[in-house]
Amino acid sequence: MREQLAKIREEAIAKLSQVSSSAELEELRVKYLGKKGEITAILKQMGGLPAEERPKMGQLANEVRAVIEDKLTSARRELDEKALELRLRAEALDVTVPGKAPKMGHRHPMYIALDEMKEIFIGMGFTVLDGPEVELAELNFDRLNADEGHPSRDWSDTFYFDEQSRVMLRSQTSPMQVRAMDSMELPIRIIAPGRVYRKDEVDATHSPMFHQVEGMVIDKGVTMADLKGTLNTAVQQLYGEGTKTRFRPHHFPFTEPSCEMDVQCHKCGGVGCPTCKGEGWIELLGAGMIHPHVLEMAGIDPNVWSGWAFGFGLERLAMRRFRIDDLRLIFENDVRFLEQF
Ligand code: DAH
Repeated sequence: MREQLAKIREEAIAKLSQVSSSAELEELRVKYLGKKGEITAILKQMGGLPAEERPKMGQLANEVRAVIEDKLTSARRELDEKALELRLRAEALDVTVPGKAPKMGHRHPMYIALDEMKEIFIGMGFTVLDGPEVELAELNFDRLNADEGHPSRDWSDTFYFDEQSRVMLRSQTSPMQVRAMDSMELPIRIIAPGRVYRKDEVDATHSPMFHQVEGMVIDKGVTMADLKGTLNTAVQQLYGEGTKTRFRPHHFPFTEPSCEMDVQCHKCGGVGCPTCKGEGWIELLGAGMIHPHVLEMAGIDPNVWSGWAFGFGLERLAMRRFRIDDLRLIFENDVRFLEQF
C-alpha cells in the first residue's frame, strides 16, 4: 500500500506538471481525488490492514492527497495566468499609434449659393417645392404657352423619351409653376430649385445638365411693382445693400410682359470691365407677369388673380458669387477645387 501511494504521488505530480487545459486538469482531479478516485480506493482498503498500521497509512494517504491538492491548485493558477497572458497579448492596443482623422466633407459652392437664396425667399414667405426631372412635354411646354412648333420643343434641343415627344427631361424648372397651380391653394408663393436638361455641348459656360431656380407668386392685385420690389429685395440681400438692378424688356411665351433683370457689375460698379464684358451690367434672370392664358389653362381666373414669375441659372449665380470662371469646375467635383469654399 505504501508503494501504491508512492506511485500515485509520483505519477500525479508528473501528470499535473504537464497539464495544458482545464478539462485535462479536471480529469486528473477526478482520477485521483474523486469519489471513485485512486486515493479514495486506497482509503477503502484501509479496513483490511492490521490495527497498528492504519493510522500510519491514513496519515500517509492524507499527505499524498494534500500534495496532489496543492499541485492541482498551482496547476490551475498557472493555467489561469497563461490564459490571461494570451488574452492580454491578443487584445494589446498601442495607444501611441497616431489616429486616423475622419475626412469631413462640406457643402458644394453651388448649394451654398442655393441655401442663401432659399433663406432669402423663405424669409419673404415663400415655400420651397421639389419636382420631377422627368416631365411631361405638356407641362414643360403646352401649359406654358409653348405650342407645337415652338423652337424650344425641337428634338435637337430637348431629351425626349418617346417618338411622340410626350415624356422628356425637363428643359426648365418652369413646369413647376404649372404643378404648383394644379396642386396648391391660392394665393401661392413658391420657389422651385432643380436640375434641367438641354442638348448642349460641354464648354466653359454650357452643360447638358444644369440647375435653375423657379419662383412664382399668384395673388389678388399682384403687379409688376411687386415683381421688381421682391427681386430687388432679394438682390440687396444677396449682393449687398445698394446694389443696382435694371429691367429690360424680353420675350418668354408664358409671361406677358416679360423682362430680364441685370445687376450692376460688382467688380467695376457699372463702368465696364472684363467681368461684365464691358457692359457694366450682368444678366441675372428672366421674369415677367404670368400670361393670362397660362392662368386660364390652370383654371385660375385672370380677372381675379394675377401673378409673376422668375427663373435663373443657379450655376451662374454661384460662379459669380464665388468668382468661378469655368462651369465645368462646378460639376467635376475635384476635392482640391471644392475645398476652397
Ligand atoms: N424658363 C426660362 C428659361 O429657362 C426662364 C424664365 C423666364 C422663367 C421668365 C420664368 C420667367 O419663370 O418668368 O429660360
